[in-house]
Amino acid sequence: MNEFQPFEHEVMASQNEKEVDYNLSESGVHPLLLRELLTDSPEYIETLLATEIDYAHANGNPELRENIAALYSGCTSSNVLVTVGAIEANYNSIHTLLQPGDELAIMLPNYMQIWGIAKNHGLKINIFHLCEDNGWQVNLDELMQAVTPKTKLIAVCNPNNPTGYILTHEEMNAIINAAEGVGAWILADEVYTGAERIKDEETPSFYGKYDKVIAVGSMSKAYGLPGLRVGWAVASPDTIDKIWRRHEYTTLSTSIFSNKLAALALSVNVRPRIIQRTRNYIRKGFPLLQQWIDHQKDTFRLVPPQAAAIAFVHYQLDVNSTELANKLIQEKSVLIVPGDHFGMDKFIRISYGLPQNYLTEGLKRIQQLVTEIRDKHGNM
Ligand SMILES: Cc1ncc(COP(=O)(O)O)c(C=O)c1O
Repeated sequence: MNEFQPFEHEVMASQNEKEVDYNLSESGVHPLLLRELLTDSPEYIETLLATEIDYAHANGNPELRENIAALYSGCTSSNVLVTVGAIEANYNSIHTLLQPGDELAIMLPNYMQIWGIAKNHGLKINIFHLCEDNGWQVNLDELMQAVTPKTKLIAVCNPNNPTGYILTHEEMNAIINAAEGVGAWILADEVYTGAERIKDEETPSFYGKYDKVIAVGSMSKAYGLPGLRVGWAVASPDTIDKIWRRHEYTTLSTSIFSNKLAALALSVNVRPRIIQRTRNYIRKGFPLLQQWIDHQKDTFRLVPPQAAAIAFVHYQLDVNSTELANKLIQEKSVLIVPGDHFGMDKFIRISYGLPQNYLTEGLKRIQQLVTEIRDKHGNM
């Protein structure tokens, strides 16, 4: 058996995110206060107080599943399984669809959860890239090579973590055609839908465009509610039932309060306000980051992200990205994500969907370290 592959990105986060002065590693926007969520519905406090602290519906409470279904065309609550975060939806989807020895194609860079699961589950991994020198567009030649007659699943993240890139309709169609050509599944991690920066139109889902799609969503990113630990998988009812059988072994259900609060957040009256709040954070934070990069053009370069509260920044310094991240933790008490955690050294991922003073101070400390490194080693 292969050696266990830890989830490096989450290891660094879980060991440091609550310890540092400035956490610029989170990929969602600054989280809501419970009070903010309940602003328009103070009467809901009574509903929460009157809740029996029981198990929730194992597959998610009916109102929540209906509200999730309403986000996808041609979807009903029988197409939805509520999970403990998108992380569980991804995990149980892969274990439902793929057996050790099966082949899958993965888009990189990416949140490396599926890559790590694939390693630990003994799957054969083929890679296709988003290319920085092409504005992070998909390398379609690589896609064609990565998808073979043996491919069982294509894993994509759209909008993408860490680049914030949104696939074009042509790229989505190319991925669907590649999957259809060999009868493969598409596992579409769409947790950043709703967190668009450069346009108001929400990113279309892969769900409904091809039969063999599992779309994964979450309250953690576009809704700023990571502490609810609510995610979901959307697929055909028989696929949902199979994932649910895995869910009964792993987490069984998320909490009854999370089910209720997520249903409220996704209701037609509340959702637009939360999505607007997310976009305000992203759209106000990004110019600060861009300005900061513009002042250090000899060190940093960035393809501006189209969505999500994160930027994948290339740097030119004689230091490896994990080493840089560790120095930032130890010397400046700032947490960022090293490019190594996405399989790409010489990049760092920085959050910008944060309160402005917090972001500015965190960036200032990164700049201090960069200046110190340059003074010591010079640049490359
Ligand atoms: C692309 C992607 N998928 C899934 C997750 C996990 O999200 P959740 O908090 O819903 O488990 C993350 C978290 O960073 C992510 O970036």
